[in-house]
Amino acid sequence: MPSTSDLLGRPLRNLRISVTDRCNLRCAYCMPEQNYVWLPRADTLRFEELAVLVDAFALAGADRVRITGGEPLLRHDLARFVRMVADKPAIRDLALTTNGLLLAEHARELAAAGLHRLTVSLDTLRPETFRALAQRDELTSVLRGVERAVEAGFRPIKIDTVVMARVNDGELVDLVEYARGLGAEVRFIEYMDVGGATRWSMEQVVSRAQMLDRLASHYGPLEPIVEDSSAPAERFRLPDGLAFGIISSTTAPFCRSCDRSRLTADGMWLTCLYARAGLDLRARVRAGASVTELAATISRGWALRSDRGAEARLGLAAREPLVPRPELRVNPHLEMHTRGG
Ligand code: GTP
Ligand code: 5AD
Ligand code: SF4
Repeated sequence: MPSTSDLLGRPLRNLRISVTDRCNLRCAYCMPEQNYVWLPRADTLRFEELAVLVDAFALAGADRVRITGGEPLLRHDLARFVRMVADKPAIRDLALTTNGLLLAEHARELAAAGLHRLTVSLDTLRPETFRALAQRDELTSVLRGVERAVEAGFRPIKIDTVVMARVNDGELVDLVEYARGLGAEVRFIEYMDVGGATRWSMEQVVSRAQMLDRLASHYGPLEPIVEDSSAPAERFRLPDGLAFGIISSTTAPFCRSCDRSRLTADGMWLTCLYARAGLDLRARVRAGASVTELAATISRGWALRSDRGAEARLGLAAREPLVPRPELRVNPHLEMHTRGG
């Protein structure tokens, strides 16, 4: 089956699989509420069902998979699924995004299972800020997790930092230096007005331009790294050669090159982080559809895709959180933690 392009000429390359909507942190930019409505457990796809979908996406053109959550390491025996995907020759790149809390105990088995790349979300190096931001006192567990992952051979690890004004925007240099010490690469992410970010306001966004200004005033001139890539991060080099990234989804989105599909833990296929609706692939898998039939469904859906979710937000006169709280409660599929960060 030839790989398909969407209505804007974008190929399907990346598949992000959320293996659970559960999370053991409550980050202010993602899960700021007291209570959540979870996906029903019976709807969670088994690894074997997910593996069928990976084969179907691969047939439709995807050759990269990223495992996400919620927090993916909360899913029992995740390494078994990692091995299942790592064993598929069509998947050239297999990565995992984790908040690191359970990483110390799982790093070795993930490496042994064939995981290629690891991204750890880490927003602060200060215990009080961590506690305030994530509502759990767990910074030391995350730092230990990162150390164990480096020891297990993941190098370079990526560190993802969502930057929020007056929360952690004074730590950019500390985080760059922390990454340097580990041989890791830090990426600073603009705070996005995605579903679930119910406390979002433009006033708390630190823009790419502001981040670059702050880093340049400390380190001196920054050099953009020119590369041909559909990845969301733009990379830069410090005068001493160290690389870091900026993901400017809010002020300078990259929808034009977006080749990502998302699959929720219950098999909903989303073609944009900001999509209001998706296609239920669980029903089709559970009805016994073959890999070829599923791939044809995916190719047809992708051919009709015209999403430009983040760019569309740029045109709004006044920006507010994407989804009001009452709507999130009746439709947890709209939550960022359900659709995989
Ligand atoms: P690699 O470049 O392959 O390492 O992957 P990645 O950068 O996509 O990985 P990661 O999961 O670490 O994504 C980093 C962050 O970029 C996410 O947490 C989001 O904040 C943002 N992001 C990822 N995908 C999208 C997307 O499709 N649209 C937008 N607007 N933001 C995204
Ligand atoms: N803005 C930017 N990034 C977010 N993430 C979750 N919510 C937001 C948001 N509102 C991303 C972060 C985190 C990953 C799991 O999801 O990168 O590290
Ligand atoms: Fe934080 Fe990720 Fe959990 Fe959201 S899913 S609360 S970003 S750790």
